[in-house]
Amino acid sequence: MAAFRVRAAEAGDCEEIVRMIRELAEYEKLSDQVKITVEVLRRDGFEESSPLYKCLVVENEEEKQAAGPRLVGYALSFFTYSTWEGRSLYLEDLYIMPEYRGRGLGSRMFAAVAEFCLALGCARLQLSVLDWNQSAISFYRSRGARDLSQEEGWRLFRFLPEDLRRMKANNTG
Ligand SMILES: CC(C)(COP(=O)(O)OP(=O)(O)OC[C@H]1O[C@@H](n2cnc3c(N)ncnc32)[C@H](O)[C@@H]1OP(=O)(O)O)[C@@H](O)C(=O)NCCC(=O)NCCS
Repeated sequence: MAAFRVRAAEAGDCEEIVRMIRELAEYEKLSDQVKITVEVLRRDGFEESSPLYKCLVVENEEEKQAAGPRLVGYALSFFTYSTWEGRSLYLEDLYIMPEYRGRGLGSRMFAAVAEFCLALGCARLQLSVLDWNQSAISFYRSRGARDLSQEEGWRLFRFLPEDLRRMKANNTG
């Protein structure tokens, strides 16, 4: 019987986390956008005086000595701030490798994120899901998630560095 442990990520996990970030991006059909490197992930999560994210991983304890993957899932989150309710958590990624799904690991890890969120006194846990990702939408909905696009009409926007540079260049004030 395989044994899995949900634990806080360590600096030495970054290589495997990057591997899973790429797998998730591939699943999301957006892998061309992945620029992150092991070095950047390690610096931002483990070498900054105020780490920029928190990451949980699922470790396959049986594979410690074997050839299979040591880490089979991860959940990466960071603080945001609501001017209405104060400190909040944003869940950037939740991922379990396909061959390890359906045995409760995603639920365990998500429950650990929820616990962590409450322990930090966060007013909210927010996340975004692609509109075609119905299995993830059902996963979150069955745990109480409200669809803000549907219920409140929020839309998600992004600026890229070229947009910012253009604004900076045009800023004569
Ligand atoms: C979402 C995800 C993390 C869930 O992980 P998991 O380990 O399979 O989760 P669990 O085993 O705890 O099962 C979760 C739910 O899926 C259901 N399920 C499990 N295996 C299933 C299968 N083969 N077919 C249909 N439903 C299944 C479970 O019954 C459970 O239902 P519930 O939500 O009513 O409790 C995982 O599917 C995943 O990594 N998906 C791809 C990445 C993704 O979409 N991430 C979220 C957006 S960032």
